[in-house]
Amino acid sequence: TRLQVLVTREVFPETLDCLARHFEVEANPSDTPFTPAQLAERLSSKDGALITLTERIDAVLLARCPKLRAVCNIAVGFNNIDLNACQARGVMATNTPGVLDDSTADFTWALILATARRVTEAEQYLRAGQWTGWKLKQFLGVDVHHATLGILGMGRVGQAVARRARGFDMNVLYHNSRRLSAEVEKSCHAAYVDMDELLARADILTVHTPYSPATHHILGAAQFAKMKPGAILINAARGGVVDDAALIEVLKRGPLAAAGLDVFENEPALHPDFLKLTNVVLTPHIASSSEATRRRMAMLAAENLVAALTTGKPPNLLTPPA
Ligand code: GLV
Ligand code: GLV
Repeated sequence: TRLQVLVTREVFPETLDCLARHFEVEANPSDTPFTPAQLAERLSSKDGALITLTERIDAVLLARCPKLRAVCNIAVGFNNIDLNACQARGVMATNTPGVLDDSTADFTWALILATARRVTEAEQYLRAGQWTGWKLKQFLGVDVHHATLGILGMGRVGQAVARRARGFDMNVLYHNSRRLSAEVEKSCHAAYVDMDELLARADILTVHTPYSPATHHILGAAQFAKMKPGAILINAARGGVVDDAALIEVLKRGPLAAAGLDVFENEPALHPDFLKLTNVVLTPHIASSSEATRRRMAMLAAENLVAALTTGKPPNLLTPPA
């Protein structure tokens, strides 16, 4: 009998085709996330699963899934998966690194430019029929070119963001848990600084760290207080890396001028004050969402699932936890 796998959300036809060549596939055609109870029920008889960041994989769930051997995330982030619990049960977990860096970096730039130049705020004004004519001082923004870009978290995405900054003649500083090689620093035209210096010097601060207990609220009230008056914060990494309530306070009272945010604590719920602020650009966790990249992510996750269940050696194995 064929191995059985669950696909928890809607994917692309070729993703299902790939899995169907190897497995009996149960898909979720509605694309509504399963409740934890529904997920446990459907997963309890499966050998593997193609999942997304809307599925929480923890010890309670795994205890109900005796046959499960692999959970393959369609995402590079994996804070929805308890790796220790997977390891304890012999469940392989995988993610999709390497295929979404450029798309996520492109989108980070969309947020940087939209936030600094007030693109969405101005469009809303125009759409509301409020535009009565050109004015010299209308929607004055801040320049991106020649500004100092601070990058917190200099992995693949952070590096791709840094490389794009050259076209804007920016001064690029970064902070990371470990310093990059001189060669990589040079290719990114980025200089390493400590956290306090990054906060003090960045005109635009963009965060690209994964979410984990170590990065929970890595940017909060104490860090914002060290930033320049008029600075801009960008987060296309993960909710929870930024303390949303503290961010709202500094967007109201300074020192920050504006923020561009693709991710939030408690998604899809937003802190209600975000919607009342005009100095924020808000998008619904779409930084990797180009057609080509989302297809690549789903296919890589499917390839991980095939490899995990057929050879035991998926290309992007996360377990054992670091
Ligand atoms: C998306 O948020 C991802 O982690 O890939
Ligand atoms: C603005 O539209 C200009 O011509 O400077």
